[in-house]
Amino acid sequence: MRFGVLTGGGDCPGLNAAVRAVVRRAARFGHESVGFLDGWKGVRDGLSRPLAASDVEGILGRGGTILGSSRTNPFGREEDALKVLATLEREKIDALIAIGGDDTLSAARALHERGGKVVGVPKTMDNDVRGTDWTFGFYSASAVAVDALERLRDTASSHHRAVVLEVMGRHAGWVALVTGLAGGADATLLPEEPFDEAALLARVRAAVAARGHALVVASEGIDLGERGESAQRDEFGHELLRMRGVGAEIARRIEAKTGVEARSAQIGHIQRGGPPEVFDRILATRLGAAAVDLVLHGRFGEVAVVHGEEVVGLPLSEALAGPKVVPASWLDLLHTFDA
Ligand code: F6P
Repeated sequence: MRFGVLTGGGDCPGLNAAVRAVVRRAARFGHESVGFLDGWKGVRDGLSRPLAASDVEGILGRGGTILGSSRTNPFGREEDALKVLATLEREKIDALIAIGGDDTLSAARALHERGGKVVGVPKTMDNDVRGTDWTFGFYSASAVAVDALERLRDTASSHHRAVVLEVMGRHAGWVALVTGLAGGADATLLPEEPFDEAALLARVRAAVAARGHALVVASEGIDLGERGESAQRDEFGHELLRMRGVGAEIARRIEAKTGVEARSAQIGHIQRGGPPEVFDRILATRLGAAAVDLVLHGRFGEVAVVHGEEVVGLPLSEALAGPKVVPASWLDLLHTFDA
């Protein structure tokens, strides 16, 4: 068989490990692989490169993706969809493995609905793909955010300030949750909960009274009650949340309303780079290999996911039934540690 593989959407640590796993697993059973460049754009435009086992040597622990990525939506326009089908035909692809988050996988579902032979692998630092317990990239990105919070603690305590760390996460606050919990923040703000300014200010005052400084983690997706429609959106219609600068705005309000000097840091794409942590290397390896196995069992239209200790196949439609947000049990644990 000839496998095609692509990485789409926002990159995250672990993509190369997943690509390597696909290529190596396919090779183990005598199949060849081809990599499409820059996500669905490469399939649409016919941009590919052969992927032999030697091409994926040494990439397991490397950040980014050797295939490149983009937020191209190939099923937004009929002419693009036809180009995708034509490329797969021309390149004699027997099975396409799409590695990505909600958007990339929804394009995979659209391809499946048109008869394309595709299997998905979930990834995203946001950890918000519904069908899987965890996505690779999430813990590596969160580790970067925890490290940032600890550095900010040093400077906040030296200057007796409140510091707000803005982390990525779009509609789901998983990164903020883990950063706040593992980094010991005084307040953590997630899109899953309404923004309560009075409660935040009370926590900042309590933390400053107790130890002279305060640390706040804010997810980029929180709604401060003055959400304007940003002009900038990606091809899937998502607002570019970093442009709203919620961290800076919260710091401004803290300083204005409590008198505590405040600063903010937006670490943005720093969270997406760097080598994958061990957990993500293993998860990406398991899911990439499992996607090949799904193909070999003829289970097209499915996505390899992790449920507890097991890696299983799930229909793409089930895995994509809305974003997976932080549930109440996690929020309850988080707020145990509020200042
Ligand atoms: O893919 C997830 C994500 O990292 C979000 O958390 C963030 O809002 C978005 O990507 C940023 O996307 P881009 O890299 O296109 O600016």
